Amino acid sequence: FVAVPNIQKRIESILSDAVVAAFGPEHADADPLINPTKDPKFGDYQANLAMGLAKKLGQKPRDIATAIVEKIDADDLFSKIDIAGPGFINLMLTQETVNQSAETILADLDRLAVAEVDEKQTVVVDFSSPNVAKEMHVGHIRSTVIGDALARIFKFLGHDVIKQNHVGDWGTQFGMLIQYMDEMPEADREAHEAGEGDTLNTIYQKSKQRFDAEDDFAQRARERVVALQAGDEETLVVWQKLVNESETYFDAVYKRLGIDLSLDDIKGESFYNPRLGNVIKDLKTADLLKESQGADVVYPEGFKDRDGNPMPMIVRKSDGGFLYATTDLAAAQYRINDLNADRIVYVTDSRQSQHFSMVFQTLREAGWAPSNVRLDHVPFGTIMGKDRKPFKTRSGETIKLVDLIDEAESRAAGILADKNPDMDTDTAAEVAHTVGIGCLKYADLSNDRIKDYIFDWDRMLSFDGNTAAYLQNSYVRCMSIFRRGEVDPSSLSGAKILATEPAERLIVLKLLQLPNVLQSVADSLEPHRLTNYLYELASLYHSFYEKCPVLKSEGETKISRLALCLLTAQTISNGLALLGIDTPPQM
Ligand code: ARG
Repeated sequence: FVAVPNIQKRIESILSDAVVAAFGPEHADADPLINPTKDPKFGDYQANLAMGLAKKLGQKPRDIATAIVEKIDADDLFSKIDIAGPGFINLMLTQETVNQSAETILADLDRLAVAEVDEKQTVVVDFSSPNVAKEMHVGHIRSTVIGDALARIFKFLGHDVIKQNHVGDWGTQFGMLIQYMDEMPEADREAHEAGEGDTLNTIYQKSKQRFDAEDDFAQRARERVVALQAGDEETLVVWQKLVNESETYFDAVYKRLGIDLSLDDIKGESFYNPRLGNVIKDLKTADLLKESQGADVVYPEGFKDRDGNPMPMIVRKSDGGFLYATTDLAAAQYRINDLNADRIVYVTDSRQSQHFSMVFQTLREAGWAPSNVRLDHVPFGTIMGKDRKPFKTRSGETIKLVDLIDEAESRAAGILADKNPDMDTDTAAEVAHTVGIGCLKYADLSNDRIKDYIFDWDRMLSFDGNTAAYLQNSYVRCMSIFRRGEVDPSSLSGAKILATEPAERLIVLKLLQLPNVLQSVADSLEPHRLTNYLYELASLYHSFYEKCPVLKSEGETKISRLALCLLTAQTISNGLALLGIDTPPQM
């Protein structure tokens, strides 16, 4: 199997060659700006490079376009090439090309003919990263779900992915927690350990209350911090217990959510603790360390406070304590030097944007992140309630992730029971899980991540619209054709495709876009590009299904249409899988 199926890439290189033939090799790097057309009446692909080139060469765009078109050497790839408007080059693929491209995908159903990248990178994805002893709240769902999808897509594209769950397992808050645990009545502790008393989250809140209300407790808590940092044995034992308990809990949540993240992927803040002293030393060597009011700081270039003064990033407080930023500098050193990262992707909410900009700038200035290492912060907005305020419970508390999962499943179960009351209980529960979790994740992923999004159960679980339920249902309906027609999908391997009807052609053209869509997600770190794609594909499928009878057609046409059903179903299911979403066998 050798075909190079990425048709868009092929068109790009044909157009590049034409530009070079027309205007010389100095234009070899000009991006041909190829895109699928929005409207089939303009052909299948459009090249928009003539306008830019015209400016550079001081000629009319239409003349440039004409000169390029004259040099296109594409052995029968195109049936028609037009120049439209100011100089758009519209390209129509031959019927043969369309058919063959679809056959190529059919021959490679696992990967849908998406090639691995030529230049494999080591990509570190830092995501989820909840905090020990605190409940995972709705904010953490975004990092977890977006990070998981990105990691899956990088891996599918052939990169080496290293997941890093940067759990908040270190810091002064552990002083009060450990001290509180230490002073807790025996019976309460036993109840907690048996899973019947206060949860860790409640214990955290109560310890905070005591810390704020009782001076002498606060003093003992501070001494605990010192003991923890000094490596006091007894203190460390309690700390480790807290950490383990939280991590076990996170792990259970990941399992329920179907997140591909294991305990081995945890590299919490405490891991970097022994390296923090060196960060300060290294900053000094790099001549970046400055002093401000007794604290050690750096002044990354380009950051100014409100008064226009250089803005400091504190790396060691006057009392000697290290900060979140110090840990991130150490973590980046580790990822670049020890994990050999070519790219590091940090998935957190957008309130941390400035933090990461300052950390990245410092890493560049210190020379710890050479220019060939790409650093990306992947910011995302807040989840809002229908009242457009941050999503909270009625009494104003943050919503726990586990409660959200429970509700997604039970709402999905209710909807499914209405639609399909005859399903047996076990299957119904399984499908409700797949649909409920799928919709929860999809609502998050389909939203342009930088925007805040409004959490709306009815919309996210709707069976029509851009939702997981719609896509899952499309998949189930595609596949039901095989059951109804008593056709074994595997009998279609090697089938001949005849995508002659406009609705058939549109599906194939959509299928051909998958490699570019995935690459654009990897570049932009925007999973909603993939959800949009899948939604558009499913919509095209529905109009195909209305216009082109499948089981009622005959001979070659029937085989070809069945193959298009299979290709669509497989693309929806593989695409959803890349987003961490399963497809149910029925619903
Ligand atoms: N624990 C942090 C939080 O809950 C997120 C950590 C993100 N990763 C990082 N390398 N700073 O806000």
